[in-house]
Amino acid sequence: MEKKPVIYSGIQPTGIITIGNYIGALSNWLKLQDDYFCVYGIADLHALTVRQVPAEFRQRAISFFAQYLACGLDPQKSILYFQSHVPAHSELSWILNCYTYVGEMQRMTQFKDKSEKNADNVNMGLLDYPVLMAADILLYQTALVPVGADQKQHLEITRDIAIRFNNVYGETFVVPEPYIPKQGAKIFSLQNPTAKMSKSDPDPNASVSIIEDPDSIMRKFKRAVTDSETVVEYREDKPGVSNLLTIFSEMTGRSIESLVAEYHDLGYAKLKNDVGESVVAKLEPVRKEYARLMGDKGYLMEVAKEGARRASSLASRTLNKVKRKVGLVEA
Ligand code: TYM
Repeated sequence: MEKKPVIYSGIQPTGIITIGNYIGALSNWLKLQDDYFCVYGIADLHALTVRQVPAEFRQRAISFFAQYLACGLDPQKSILYFQSHVPAHSELSWILNCYTYVGEMQRMTQFKDKSEKNADNVNMGLLDYPVLMAADILLYQTALVPVGADQKQHLEITRDIAIRFNNVYGETFVVPEPYIPKQGAKIFSLQNPTAKMSKSDPDPNASVSIIEDPDSIMRKFKRAVTDSETVVEYREDKPGVSNLLTIFSEMTGRSIESLVAEYHDLGYAKLKNDVGESVVAKLEPVRKEYARLMGDKGYLMEVAKEGARRASSLASRTLNKVKRKVGLVEA
């Protein structure tokens, strides 16, 4: 494998890529590109656990891929690809299934949540989701996984599966560590600031896409739910204002303390306006580059093809090792 420690992460092509995904995950992926060997996938197989309209799904996956690049993920530095283009993910996932207990999967919070939300479609993929995610990560001998706070439990089960396998067959997988930022690991809904900003929230005012047009971004921040006070402070009992401050800090690189010092008595309207403007300014280049890239699908698919080729070559090393260890006859 490569000498630099490996980073792996991915986003499911469902809904929209929100500023929550950007702050919690993507912005860290960008920072890690220079010092690590980074592999970033579009987790399209994961998205099949809920029903997708095929034509829309395909378009959305390509759009997400363009957004990866538009944010500054660089195919010269990182491997960028579609998970479904590398069959090793599904193969390793099957083998790891045989080392994972049904009870462990049934206890996962995301499984419980999603089963409630999709009560008419509690399919095997939904239950098995964390094993596929473990396969994604373990295939590349990943050291660090940059994700938001909601993925912590999935990382824990990935570590458990890796340790369990290593204990039976000897050192096979690197046991990965989560990389969860201290600030911004959970960005909240603009309409319900005690709930996570979700990429598939049916209320369009709750979340902001990273390629949204400036007027719409400003409108959503102006409507953001806060509280009935007027002072700008970062406090647990002021989730709306605190969320705005976190977003503001992430977009400008300024500390929350310095923002509170400046905005303390300026009122919520001014705060909302300036947070909105900071988001517009930060995302302006992303939106422009995205529009350009979507006009060049040929280029996007070339990058994806080369990414899949490189990812497959790395993944097959781990997969072959695993097959040998469990006693499958070599092809
Ligand atoms: P997904 O697609 O739901 O989210 C992508 C990334 O964004 C983070 N995130 C957030 N961070 C801060 N605030 C929020 N409101 C917020 N919402 C989402 C998520 O934590 C995640 O890092 N299972 C994964 C995709 C996946 C994956 C992997 C990740 C598939 N295979 C292997 C890492 C490694 C998921 O559904 O993320």
